[in-house]
Amino acid sequence: MSVEDIIVIEELVKIYKSKDIEVLALQGLDLRVKKGEIVAIIGSSGSGKSTLLNMIGGLDKPSAGSLFVDGKDLLSFTPKDFIEYKRDTVGFVWQNSARNLIPYLTAYENIEIPMILSGKKDSSYILELLEMVGLSHRKNNKLSELSGGEQQRIAIATALANKPKILLADEPTGAVDTKTAGMILDVFRNLRDRLGITIVIVTHDNMISNHVERVVSIRDGKTSSELILKEEYRDFALQNKAERAASEKTHNEFVVVDRYGRLQLPKNFAEAIGLDKSGKARVELNGARIIITAPETEEN
Ligand SMILES: Nc1ncnc2c1ncn2[C@@H]1O[C@H](COP(=O)(O)OP(=O)(O)OP(=O)(O)O)[C@@H](O)[C@H]1O
Ligand SMILES: [Mg+2]
Repeated sequence: MSVEDIIVIEELVKIYKSKDIEVLALQGLDLRVKKGEIVAIIGSSGSGKSTLLNMIGGLDKPSAGSLFVDGKDLLSFTPKDFIEYKRDTVGFVWQNSARNLIPYLTAYENIEIPMILSGKKDSSYILELLEMVGLSHRKNNKLSELSGGEQQRIAIATALANKPKILLADEPTGAVDTKTAGMILDVFRNLRDRLGITIVIVTHDNMISNHVERVVSIRDGKTSSELILKEEYRDFALQNKAERAASEKTHNEFVVVDRYGRLQLPKNFAEAIGLDKSGKARVELNGARIIITAPETEEN
């Protein structure tokens, strides 16, 4: 385990049990996030993204596996540990975070509320946060006087009021247009650069990959592949040159291999050679390569 890893997840399992059914929402998921990293988790609806984020955020308890955040073992947490953790370690932003803000209070006053609740009021930090999200000039406006994108930026500042180490965002750009989404992602990068916080963004929007260094795909409750931004793109792709990023391959793509050697083949690859039908594959080592074939191909 590297000391730089602020989130270390291994074999995480979450089963939701209701009266007569059980849903296996996470099926042995692995993920590591370095301190100061911005990671996007993408996956189709129902793949387990929100479940994962809620586990990292201490909103719900995993069924099995291990989950360490900032050196703390969340599976051994008491209810009191969860309260402290949610107050000190993580901040949350949702698709409609603005709904959790108070419309008749000003931008400044909204950011102040979590500080009042924790007893650590810091007016110069509120001004700094307003500046970091680019809304210093709107500090005395009521929330209801701000646009949706501006409200979301205030929601981000509010989530950071108590200086959490990790910001968790579930579809933070889901309710805004593409341009505003780009602006919000710029705000995330700016905050990471200034505060050194770690940010995990959950989305089903592939466009986000142009704005972050690492994209992790989840399929059926398991991490299946990763896109890592190429070194030569670190500068300009991160400066919001989405047009350029869209026309070129800016990321290296990897399939995740867990510590038992298991990997999930991209669905279209498995289908292309008929593995989805046979349910078995032949694997051969060929020098530095591993060749996977469908059993039928072999017999022909
Ligand atoms: N509280 C719950 N009780 C029972 N099942 C749940 C609960 N929450 C989520 N699930 C189920 O767990 C699976 C994963 O759900 P989750 O919300 O994590 O998906 P998601 O990737 O966030 O999807 P979306 O993109 O639609 O938000 C789904 O099959 C969902 O129906
Ligand atoms: Mg979700």
